[in-house]
Amino acid sequence: MKAKVSPLRNPARGESLRVPGDKSISHRALMFAALAEGESRIAGLAGGDDVRSTARCLAQLGVPLLRGDGTPWHPRPRSSELPDDAEPTFVRPERPSGSPPLPERDPDMGEDDAVVLGQGLAGLRAPVARLDCGNSGTTLRLLSGILAGAGVEATLTGDESLSRRPMERVARPLRQLGAVIETTDGKPPVTIRGGNRLWSGALSSEVASAQVKSAVLLAGLFAEGETSFTEPARSRDHTERMLRVMGAEIVQRGTTVAVRGRARLRGIALDVPGDLSSAAFLIAAALIAPEGSRLSLEHVGVNPTRAGFLDAVAMFGARLQLELQDSTGPEPVARLAVSAQKLRGAHLDGDLVLRAIDEVPILAVLGAAAEGETVIRGAQELRVKESDRIAQMAGGLRAMGARVEELPDGLRIQGGGLRGGAAIDSAMDHRIALAFSVAALAAREPCTISGAEWADVSFPGFYGLLRRLGAEVEIAS
Ligand code: S3P
Repeated sequence: MKAKVSPLRNPARGESLRVPGDKSISHRALMFAALAEGESRIAGLAGGDDVRSTARCLAQLGVPLLRGDGTPWHPRPRSSELPDDAEPTFVRPERPSGSPPLPERDPDMGEDDAVVLGQGLAGLRAPVARLDCGNSGTTLRLLSGILAGAGVEATLTGDESLSRRPMERVARPLRQLGAVIETTDGKPPVTIRGGNRLWSGALSSEVASAQVKSAVLLAGLFAEGETSFTEPARSRDHTERMLRVMGAEIVQRGTTVAVRGRARLRGIALDVPGDLSSAAFLIAAALIAPEGSRLSLEHVGVNPTRAGFLDAVAMFGARLQLELQDSTGPEPVARLAVSAQKLRGAHLDGDLVLRAIDEVPILAVLGAAAEGETVIRGAQELRVKESDRIAQMAGGLRAMGARVEELPDGLRIQGGGLRGGAAIDSAMDHRIALAFSVAALAAREPCTISGAEWADVSFPGFYGLLRRLGAEVEIAS
């Protein structure tokens, strides 16, 4: 799919908008609910392909899952809704025979919500087919921790982009806990051998990664004793917050976090906050749109281990209003309001970049739109995301007329606005499709983004929302 996005001519206005539910939190809510004892009700789940991949894998592991409207959940990636005669790229969710019955319908829940009947730590079944994690690194890495801990034999695969991503960073620590786990030259497919009991231990990692940390903590849930994980800096803590609310014993000491094993998790009722990583694209669009543009967003997650984007925006000299809202769950949520403003270049590095790691592509767009130089360092992890995001951003911004130097761990960008008139490929990466679509709004000439359907991984409905804000977007297949 191609999206031709034209520069915004008039101010963009949007009041009380909602962005899709947080992807990181949605994955965790479904997985942890599957391990709990009793029912969980999750409202406001991220509707994108990645979370559907998690739901699909859980169905294959025998976990009863319903949509809030009472129908069994047969999650399929939106972007591969195929004609009948096409070769399917996904594995049909197949619950192993003898799986428990589906939970009761909940009349209070909407169709995008989910009801999960938890199976307890010992309740997952070996899947009859490979677990296809699609484009989702979080699905593959967190499930590896769970399956290793549970001793369930399974092979996890992914699409072309996920099949290029490093998996030894998860396999290695899991082996230290006694798991038998194989990668394919360090990448997917990843096979976990069943039947192994894990032991607890004190592990550390050279990369600060919430996915690695979560895989270790989840495996540690199954082992006797305390399992701890030390990282060089504190990555996002959604796992710790949610497990604690569900009854696990979690202790944080500096950058070390420990879990006590053989925990019994309670089901959870959760209203998933809006995804700040998705909100970031709309906030950026409003900041660089014509004068008079204004946008407000409701119920956005503002977890401090994850909200570096808000600090970065302040470093560009922009003002943003943040009003904390009531939250019954483990995560803080806020109403955010922003208007078009003049930006000045910023130097972004260290902890701030870790807390804004998924927002670096859109921060690079802000850098290109700002006056003066922007330097982003400490973002080497971007080389191994859904695409090499440093290379993709450098190439795409150059094609749009910016002067950009690619650094090993970031970008140096000379601001001053974008000419546009470029053809950009999303490289199977949702954040690249989204970032360049926003960049095109602020350019002087339209741009075409091919592979725009990848936006559905985290932000289904994005182009419709841009149109509602007054943007001209033409979609072609
Ligand atoms: C995520 C952690 C981050 C982030 C990813 C989601 C998570 O990855 O980039 O989009 O949900 O735990 P790393 O753990 O590889 O840093």
